[in-house]
Amino acid sequence: MDNFFITRDFDWNVQRSSHVDRALNLLTRRLGINSNTAALVDAMLQRLTGQKFSATRSGISTNVEQRMNMYHLVSQTIAYNVDGDLVEVGCNEGQSSVLIAKLIKGFNSSKKLHVYDSFEGLPSTRRVDGDAYKEGDLATTEDVLINNFKLHGLEMPVIHRGWFDDTLPDGLPEKICFAHLDGDLYDSISVSLKYVYPRLSKGAVCLIDDYCDPAINPDGWDYLPGVKKACDDFMADKPEKICYMYAGAFTHAFFRKSAD
Ligand SMILES: C[S@@+](CC[C@H](N)C(=O)[O-])C[C@H]1O[C@@H](n2cnc3c(N)ncnc32)[C@H](O)[C@@H]1O
Repeated sequence: MDNFFITRDFDWNVQRSSHVDRALNLLTRRLGINSNTAALVDAMLQRLTGQKFSATRSGISTNVEQRMNMYHLVSQTIAYNVDGDLVEVGCNEGQSSVLIAKLIKGFNSSKKLHVYDSFEGLPSTRRVDGDAYKEGDLATTEDVLINNFKLHGLEMPVIHRGWFDDTLPDGLPEKICFAHLDGDLYDSISVSLKYVYPRLSKGAVCLIDDYCDPAINPDGWDYLPGVKKACDDFMADKPEKICYMYAGAFTHAFFRKSAD
């Protein structure tokens, strides 16, 4: 299966991953700039600099490098038939969920995708989370996610709407072969790991977005420090080691479950 859809087929389609893009993206979110205005800003910046800007659109979650990494990790677990289904904890509009679903379809796999989100944005933040986001940021609606799946002609995922504390204890598949944890905050990642980890099969991959280790990558996007702390705290007494991955100016990491 080709992987061209990673860059070509995405409405969001952030091809570049510079700090400038990421900073502009944050700024537009902070200022509450809607996508029409953001498109105008994009056009003005392009006129001024001669460069294309696309990160001023709101709601951009992943860059090409992250999607490439995700492509390979999801593909592995499906190709090697690791036991269980796939989950995304923190799905928002479904940018990553769509990629995962495309791979399930591409492999003709019978595995299911389960996605989890409040769709009301982030819960309250704590000091450990830094100040990139505040409560209510990233709010969207379930309809946006559903429309994105329709747009890409994909089978609907199983949607678990609500706070992770409420949806994860009884709403996860029995066995999980791939998990994408993208809850941004210390508490959200902690609760995700608490419930997802025991269900990961041997060989399963758990990919954690925004995990940034400045000691390894001083230029990484280190705006959500609660993510690394939650992972490091949870994994301290576990046999698996977290593997930090190159992802351009964005950051993420994964571990592979060593036993059921
Ligand atoms: C960065 S977005 C996810 C982006 C998505 N994974 C993607 O790649 O497009 C984080 C999402 O996590 C959700 N979230 C964070 N903490 C949550 C919690 N405790 N319960 C429910 N949803 C939560 C937010 O509503 C938000 O939509």
